[in-house]
Amino acid sequence: MKTFPTSAAWCLGILFISVSLITTGSSEVVGPADRVITLAGDDIILPCSLKPNISAEDMLVEWTRLNPKAENVHLYRSGRDSNVEQVPSYRRRTSLFHEELKNGNVSLKLTRVTLSDAGSYRCFILTLTSQEKETTVQLFVGAVSQPVISIDGTKGWGVVLKCESGGWFPEPEMEWLDSSGTILPADGPPERHRDSEGLYAVRRHVTVNQTDTNRFTCRVHQQEINHLKETEIHVPDYLFPSRYWLIVGLLIAAAVVFLAASAISFYMWIKYTEDDVFPKSLLGLIVGLLIAAAVGVIAASAGVYMLSKHIKDDVFPKLQVGLIVGLLAAGAAVGLLAASAGVIGVYMWRKHTEGIYYFTILLYYITILLCYITILH
Ligand SMILES: *[C@@H]1O[C@H](CO)[C@@H](O)[C@H](O)[C@H]1NC(C)=O
Ligand SMILES: *[C@@H]1O[C@H](CO)[C@@H](O)[C@H](O)[C@H]1NC(C)=O
Ligand SMILES: *[C@@H]1O[C@H](CO)[C@@H](O)[C@H](O)[C@H]1NC(C)=O
Repeated sequence: MKTFPTSAAWCLGILFISVSLITTGSSEVVGPADRVITLAGDDIILPCSLKPNISAEDMLVEWTRLNPKAENVHLYRSGRDSNVEQVPSYRRRTSLFHEELKNGNVSLKLTRVTLSDAGSYRCFILTLTSQEKETTVQLFVGAVSQPVISIDGTKGWGVVLKCESGGWFPEPEMEWLDSSGTILPADGPPERHRDSEGLYAVRRHVTVNQTDTNRFTCRVHQQEINHLKETEIHVPDYLFPSRYWLIVGLLIAAAVVFLAASAISFYMWIKYTEDDVFPKSLLGLIVGLLIAAAVGVIAASAGVYMLSKHIKDDVFPKLQVGLIVGLLAAGAAVGLLAASAGVIGVYMWRKHTEGIYYFTILLYYITILLCYITILH
């Protein structure tokens, strides 16, 4: 009866080995169904695990980059990480989830992903005896950035807006939208270029008309990485060229009033120079005021000319200066006209020349009205 314990031990031993071979052998390495997508700079997990679930704590796990040439990314063996042959670009950026190994989870964590990390990675478990000892994970790396909007001048009755966004990968789409989300017809297709790092920059112009809100959005979208960035701009009313024509209208009105006032004062001057009720010095003052008003109208016209020219580049400072000059000149001209009309009015009152007196009063109110309109705008 000496052989029985020995053969029993053998039997048990063979049974144990076969059971462990069956369990180890039947587990397979599985990766994600789809490619893994991330953005440059982020941390990412490349999934890889054993199915059915057995511990990988004592196995040899090898993560390799497959293209353009095979590179060691991460190696785990004899129960610990063993990264002496790791490629320098992955140094201190890779790790396994050690507490997850017992659940058969051998996913790789990669930190601070760069665009050049994109590619195929192989997760390989040498210790397995099954057919499926490895799986391949595709890593796709994108890059995004916030678009920047600037005002690029005027065209016709509209304001030209420019949207620029660099640092994208892959190449994105760029669109202009109004405040209700409707896509606006842009001034041509987007201009694109690629920088030395392989990132895309996109630029697109749009000419917008004045709206209730004057709010416009530039949207940059990359479908493959499912990322969208938007920037909104509010274009102030006064930048729209329609305002110029209001000023032109006011100036024409001011010029008409000015001409009427000069005609009257010239008539007065010729007719009443002999009269000492109305001293000549006062008439001199009126003529002086009218000359000042004429200068004001000329200055205002120059301002309006500057405004109405469709200067493409650098429109901002010129536009501001033109607007200020125009408004000041229009204000001065209207003010001086009111003053001269007032002086003539006083004189008329003293002469009791009723018809001309009422006309002058009317003129006076018109100029005051013009003053108000100018100030209100
Ligand atoms: C693996 O099995 C353990 C229990 O043994 C369980 O807690 C865990 O959720 C399983 N993991 C997976 C990935 O199925
Ligand atoms: C493996 O572990 C990581 C980290 O805890 C987790 O995010 C991932 O979902 C796990 N994978 C599986 C298949 O359980
Ligand atoms: C702006 O108005 C003009 C004419 O009124 C029109 O042709 C143009 O399409 C409009 N632009 C936009 C972006 O709606």
